[in-house]
Amino acid sequence: MNDLLRVAVIGGDGTGPEVVAEGVKVLKEVAKQENFNLELVDFDICGARYLKNGGVIISDDEIAELGKFSSILFGAVGHPDVAPGILEKGLLLRLRFEFDQYINLRPVKLLPGVETPLRDKKPEDLDFVVVRENTEDMYVGMGGFLKKGTPDEVAMQTAVYTRKGCERCVRWAYELARKRNNKKGKRLTLVAKTNVLTYGHDLWMRTFKEVGEEYPDVEQTYNHVDACCMWMVKNPEYYDVIVTTNMFGDIITDLAGILQGGMGVAAGGNINPDEGGTSMYEPMGGSAPKYTGLNIINPIAAINAVAMLLDQEGYAKAAERVSKAVQIVTGTKMKSQTAGKMGYSTSEIGDLICENL
Ligand code: IPM
Ligand code: MN
Repeated sequence: MNDLLRVAVIGGDGTGPEVVAEGVKVLKEVAKQENFNLELVDFDICGARYLKNGGVIISDDEIAELGKFSSILFGAVGHPDVAPGILEKGLLLRLRFEFDQYINLRPVKLLPGVETPLRDKKPEDLDFVVVRENTEDMYVGMGGFLKKGTPDEVAMQTAVYTRKGCERCVRWAYELARKRNNKKGKRLTLVAKTNVLTYGHDLWMRTFKEVGEEYPDVEQTYNHVDACCMWMVKNPEYYDVIVTTNMFGDIITDLAGILQGGMGVAAGGNINPDEGGTSMYEPMGGSAPKYTGLNIINPIAAINAVAMLLDQEGYAKAAERVSKAVQIVTGTKMKSQTAGKMGYSTSEIGDLICENL
């Protein structure tokens, strides 16, 4: 924790700027109430600019500038006129890789008043965290084509797992399980596919067990990823902390996201926990072009991202205040978490959170 919290802000595309504006509103208010200084620096990096300036998504200078911040608040990336993959790879994944944000932290918590598609499940049943490795696996972009466009075409996409990448992620997850100190019992579950991926996920399993020797107080369990999807729906209360690979983490956190009320609520942190690291916090929802500019999108996920940012920056009390205010507003005010059905506009939700800090 510093006297001055400096945050880089990238609103991005579509509804990104709208939800980030509410996150910033809440950040400013909590800084005032908790008496710390805040410096926000806006970065105009988005799909629209890429289309205008002909092919530069983010410049090396901008990367260097962003690297001077310990936290970035990120809205969304994705533009209807840009082919899928370009902006995702050129911006979101680039930032994750450039800043070696090796932890993707995705809390899954059913907040009071929020509807879940799971019949009979209550907030106390859905409260776990997914720690997704964020720099390896099939996301590294290694691969290629052979005889492209012919009937004999071969396409390869390589999943890369390193001992270092795996170990730092697993260790961070053990530490988190210890810190969470779940009253139902500290438990870390490795989610992988050791019955098929007998090299890569064998490395994960061995690392999980070896590092686990240092954490005898944390119960260590394992699920294959397919079974995890099933258990997450049937018995989500089983989970405390899940640690998993990049690709599987991507998939299971969409499932987890909808269980906790959808993309209007789910937030993620791309964290580089090392000294001097640059981390990035984002609502998990996309740019939602059809809702853009209507002031009806749900900003709760972006505000949850702000709470996560504050927590990681060491402003635990401010983070707690934001989380509590979110729970008051979801529990006593909002009609729904769906865009256009909240009973309030985007900016009114931000105001309500500020009033309840
Ligand atoms: C996510 C997204 C990204 C991912 C895409 C946009 C590249 O789905 O943050 O989960 O696959 O990681
Ligand atoms: Mn995803």
